[in-house]
Amino acid sequence: MTTPQQPRAQWLGRWGFVLAATGSAVGLGNIWKFPYITGEHGGGAFVLVYLACILAVGVPVMMTEIAFGRRGRGSPIDAVRRVVTESGRSPLWSLLGWMAMLAGFMILSFYVVVAGWSFSYLWKMVTGQLAGSNVDDMVAIFAANNANPFNLGFWSTLVTLLTMLIVGKGVQAGIERSVSWMMPGMVIMLLILIGYGMFSGGFGEAWRFLFSFNAGSLTSDGMLAALGHAFFTLSLASGAILTYGSYLPSRTSIARTTFSVAVADTLVALMAGLAIFPIIFANGLNPGEGPGLLFMSLPLAFQAMPLGTLFGILFFVMLSMAALTSSISMVEATVSWLVDNKGISRRTAAWGTGIVLWLISTLAMLSFNLGADWTLAGRHFFDWLDYLTSRWMMPLGGLGMALLAGFVLKSESFREELGLAPHWHALWLFMVRYVSPLGILVIFVDALGIARVEFGMHWPWLLLLLALVTLAGEILSPRLRRTLAG
Ligand code: PHE
Repeated sequence: MTTPQQPRAQWLGRWGFVLAATGSAVGLGNIWKFPYITGEHGGGAFVLVYLACILAVGVPVMMTEIAFGRRGRGSPIDAVRRVVTESGRSPLWSLLGWMAMLAGFMILSFYVVVAGWSFSYLWKMVTGQLAGSNVDDMVAIFAANNANPFNLGFWSTLVTLLTMLIVGKGVQAGIERSVSWMMPGMVIMLLILIGYGMFSGGFGEAWRFLFSFNAGSLTSDGMLAALGHAFFTLSLASGAILTYGSYLPSRTSIARTTFSVAVADTLVALMAGLAIFPIIFANGLNPGEGPGLLFMSLPLAFQAMPLGTLFGILFFVMLSMAALTSSISMVEATVSWLVDNKGISRRTAAWGTGIVLWLISTLAMLSFNLGADWTLAGRHFFDWLDYLTSRWMMPLGGLGMALLAGFVLKSESFREELGLAPHWHALWLFMVRYVSPLGILVIFVDALGIARVEFGMHWPWLLLLLALVTLAGEILSPRLRRTLAG
C-alpha cells in the first residue's frame, strides 16, 4: 500500500467542491439523456420513480461516497481500502472501488461521442447549416451527422483531447471558474426555451406527459432505467463524486453539499424536459425517438424564435461546456489512482488514459456507422457501454457502498465524517441500511423477472416489507442501538 507523498490537493474556494460536483452532475445526463429516456419509457410514471430514486437512493449514497472519499483521501480504490482497513475489515471491499473506476471509464467512452454531437451541432449552428430545415430535415441531418465515421470521429476525438488537456492540468484550474458562470447561463437558456415552448402549442401536452402519473405505463425495464439514471445523473458509483470528495476540506458539511448538488441537478433535468417536449409535441415528433431527441427538436425552436441563431449558439456552447465538466470528472478517479500509485505525473497519467479511452470511444463511435451491424443480443457497442454501466454496475456499486457503510464499517468513522446531529445521522443510517438497498433490490428482482412489483398497487406491501426488514436488521445488528444512544 502506498501513501501519497504530498498532501492531497484541495478545492480553492468555499464553493469549490459544490461547483465542481455540480459541474460533474449536471451534464448530458440531464439535458440529453433524461428527456430521451423519459420519452422512451412513457413519461410521468418514469419521472416519478426517477425522483423517488434520487431521494431514497441517490442522496444517501452520494453522502456516503463523499464521506468515503474524504475519509480515505484517495482514488476510489485507495479510499475504500483505507476506510475499511481502519475499521478492521477485509481490503477486498476495495473491489467496489475498482468497479467504480471501470464504470467511470466505460461511461466516458460513450459520453465523448454524445459530447461530440453537441460540439458538431454548435458548429452547424455557427455555420448556418441548420437554417431553414423542417422536422424531416432535422431527422435526416442527425442521421447524416452519424453516418460518416470521419466526421463523428473528429468530434469525439476533439472531446477526448479537451478532456485530457483539462484533467492533465489538475483539479483546481478552471473547473470552478467555468462552472460558476456556465450553470446560471444554462438555466437562463432553458428558461428561454421553456418560455418559447409555452407559446408553441405543445406545452400543455408536454406538462401532462411529464407529470401525470399513469402507473400502467411503466415497465420493469423502465424502473431499472430510472434507478440507473438516478446514479448516472448524480455521477455516483463511477468514481467521480468519491474522488472529488477526496479533495474536500474537512470542515465542509457533506449533507448540505449533497443536497445542493442534488437539487440543482434535478431542477436542470426537469427544466430540460419542459424545454424539449413542447417542441416534440408541437412538431409531431415521436417522444420515443431515442438518443437523437434533443438534436432533432431544439434546433427547430432556435429557428423559429427571435434571435434564435444567437440563442442556439449559446445553448450548444453551454451544453458542450456542461459535457466537459462532467467528462473530466469521469477520468479523475483513474488519473488520481495512477498518480498516487504509479509515481507518474498527472500529465502523463492523463495522456496515457486518453489513448486507451480514444481507442474504446472510437469503437463506440463506430456503432453509428461502420459498426451498426456489430451487435450482440440486439445492442451495439455504444448501447452495451451505457446498458452495463447504468443498469448494472452503478446500481450494484451503490448497493455495495450503502451496505458497507451501513453494516460493515465501525459506526464511529462515518459519524465523525458526516458530523450530523444524532437524529439526522439515524435517518442517514436508516436510509443506507434499509431504504436504499431494499429499493435497489426490489427493482432488480422486478427487472430480472423473479417477481413482479407493481408500485401502483403494491406500495403498502412494500412498506410492510421495509418495516419487517428494518426490524429484523435492528434485532440482528445491535450496533445501531449504540449509534442512536451515542
Ligand atoms: N452526471 C453526468 C451527467 O448527468 C454524467 C456522469 C456520470 C458524470 C458518471 C460522472 C460520472 O451528464
